[in-house]
Amino acid sequence: MAEKYYAGIDVGSHSTEAVIIDDNKQQLSFSIIDTGLDGNAAAENALNLALAKIGINRENLNGIVATGYGRANVTNAGKQVTEITCHATGAHHIFPQAGTVIDMGGQDSKVIHIDENGQLVDFVMNDKCAAGTGRFLEVMAKRLGSDLDQFGNLALLSEQAVPISNTCTVFAESEVVSLLAKNHPRDQIIRGLHQAIVDRIWAQSQTVGIHGAVIMTGGVALNQGVIQLLEDKLKCELLVPPQPQIVGALGAALIAHRNFR
Ligand SMILES: Nc1ncnc2c1ncn2[C@@H]1O[C@H](COP(=O)(O)OP(=O)(O)OP(=O)(O)O)[C@@H](O)[C@H]1O
Ligand SMILES: [Mg+2]
Repeated sequence: MAEKYYAGIDVGSHSTEAVIIDDNKQQLSFSIIDTGLDGNAAAENALNLALAKIGINRENLNGIVATGYGRANVTNAGKQVTEITCHATGAHHIFPQAGTVIDMGGQDSKVIHIDENGQLVDFVMNDKCAAGTGRFLEVMAKRLGSDLDQFGNLALLSEQAVPISNTCTVFAESEVVSLLAKNHPRDQIIRGLHQAIVDRIWAQSQTVGIHGAVIMTGGVALNQGVIQLLEDKLKCELLVPPQPQIVGALGAALIAHRNFR
């Protein structure tokens, strides 16, 4: 009998990921692409890319689960599941000891408390405001002439941070312009911006509490400045998977395995 495969697709505001697993829940392939303007097209492209990497046809998929803010428009999925459930499932699979999942994406940030079986206990989500999300860092990196993948490292160049008083992204951007005009060192401003985002996610985490080992997921987990300053603030080490952006899609694939086997 032919091998069975399962796919999870996470259509986020910034990027779309697909993960393929086999019947033994082994991750075989993944892809990460920009979401762009058409979430359904991004879902199709990400899935095809992940399938092509391992030479598997669509007909070999037993089930597809979609998640992410664009999940409702994914026409090829047999089921749609919330990001909270998918992140909890994916995080527990990678780090069974995790009790807290912090996901920072492009448009929202979430702190999720899970039990020893990876089941949801409680969560808090900020999807109202760009401050405290990856979008804030994107805007500031652009304003300060840094590539996104270097921005976090620049925050760690200086021990000193210039405090950023505005929490709103738009006002904080103006504040940065005025701090630059007053000749504040660029790396100290960058550290201040990272401290601001860390303070926000820390405040958010206090409403559900920090339980057990903490895993960080989402694209912002690629930012070393956020990781280090958040570790300092939480006074604990963060578990970061090798591909933090695909945790939601992995969770979706595992839920496809559970539902369509
Ligand atoms: N190479 C990188 N280095 C540092 N940060 C990065 C990198 N790539 C992406 N990011 C950060 O990750 C964010 C996007 O994260 P992610 O891909 O998890 O978002 P998303 O799932 O599409 O969004 P959401 O879950 O909010 O809908 C960007 O806004 C950026 O701040
Ligand atoms: Mg996401």
